[in-house]
Amino acid sequence: MNFEFITVNTQVEKHIALVQLNRPKELNALNNQLMNELRESLFQLDRDDAVRVIVITGNEKAFAAGADIKQMVSATPLGMMKADQFSNWEQIKKTKKPMIAAVSGFALGGGCELMMHCDMIVASETAIIGQPEIKIGVMPGAGGTQRLTRSVGKALAMELILTGRPLNAEEALRAGLINKVVPVELYLREAIRMAQLVAEHSPISVRLAKEAVLNAFNSTLDEGLQFERRNFYLCFASEDQKEGMNAFIEKRSPQFQGK
Ligand code: CAA
Repeated sequence: MNFEFITVNTQVEKHIALVQLNRPKELNALNNQLMNELRESLFQLDRDDAVRVIVITGNEKAFAAGADIKQMVSATPLGMMKADQFSNWEQIKKTKKPMIAAVSGFALGGGCELMMHCDMIVASETAIIGQPEIKIGVMPGAGGTQRLTRSVGKALAMELILTGRPLNAEEALRAGLINKVVPVELYLREAIRMAQLVAEHSPISVRLAKEAVLNAFNSTLDEGLQFERRNFYLCFASEDQKEGMNAFIEKRSPQFQGK
C-alpha cells in the first residue's frame, strides 16, 4: 500500500498492522487526502486475513491536530454535502478488526474523534486531548459530541466541547476516555503489546465481541443482550471455539486459525 500522508506496516509484529499518520509539519491535520488514504488502508487491512489488530498512531508531537482548517476555511454547506467527506468516517467506523490508538501529543478535534473511533487507547504522558472546535467558530463534526459524551458523561463532555479546554493524559485516564498512560518513549510499544494480547485470541470471537460491545451504544439493554446471545451462538460455529475449549481441557495453549 503506497500512500502520501500515511504509512502502513504489516511487518511490525505477527498479526499486527501499524498505520502511521504522516503529515508531521501540519501536526497530522486530517486533510481530505489523508482521510481518503486512511479509509482505503483500513478497508484493505480489514480484509487481510494475516492482520488481526490495527494500531493507529501519529508521532510524538501529534496524533492529529484535527481536521485541516486551511482546507475547511472556505467550505460551504453544499460543497461539503456534495463532497460527502463524512463517508470516510462512516467507512472507518465499519472496521471490524480491533483498532488501538497510540496517542502522543495533540489529539484535537478530528484527531480526538479519530482516537475515539479506536477500540482502545494508549497515550503518552504528553498527550493533549480535546475538542477545541468551538474556538474556531464551529463544533465537533465527526462524532465528538456523541462519542465523548458516551465516554466521559455529560458534565465533562459539555465542559470540553463548550470551553474548548483540552484534557491532559492523566485527566483523560481518570475520565475513562483512554485505557493507559505511559512515558512517551513507551506509548507505541505499549499499544503494540496490547494489540498482541488481542491478536493471540480467535479473530472470530474477537470480531463478534467487538461488534457486541459497540452495539451497546445503539440498543436498549434487551436488544443488546439478544445481539450478544446471537454472537455467542455464532462463536460455536467456529473451529476456534473447539480448539480453545479443547486446549483448556488438555492443558495446552490454543492455536487459533480464524476458522
Ligand atoms: N489544520 C491545519 N493546519 C494545522 C492544524 C489544523 N487543524 N493544526 C496545526 N496546523 C498547522 C499550523 O497551521 C502550522 O502550520 P504553519 O507552520 O504553516 O503555520 C503547523 O501545523 C504547526 O502548528 P502550530 O504552529 O500552531 O503549532 P503549536 O505547537 O504552536 O500549536 C496546536 C499546536 C495547539 C495544536 C495548534 O496548532 C492548534 O490549535 N491547532 C488547531 C487545533 C484545532 O482547532 N483542531 C480542530 C480542527 S476542526 C475539526 O477537527 C472539525 C471536526 O470535528 C472534524
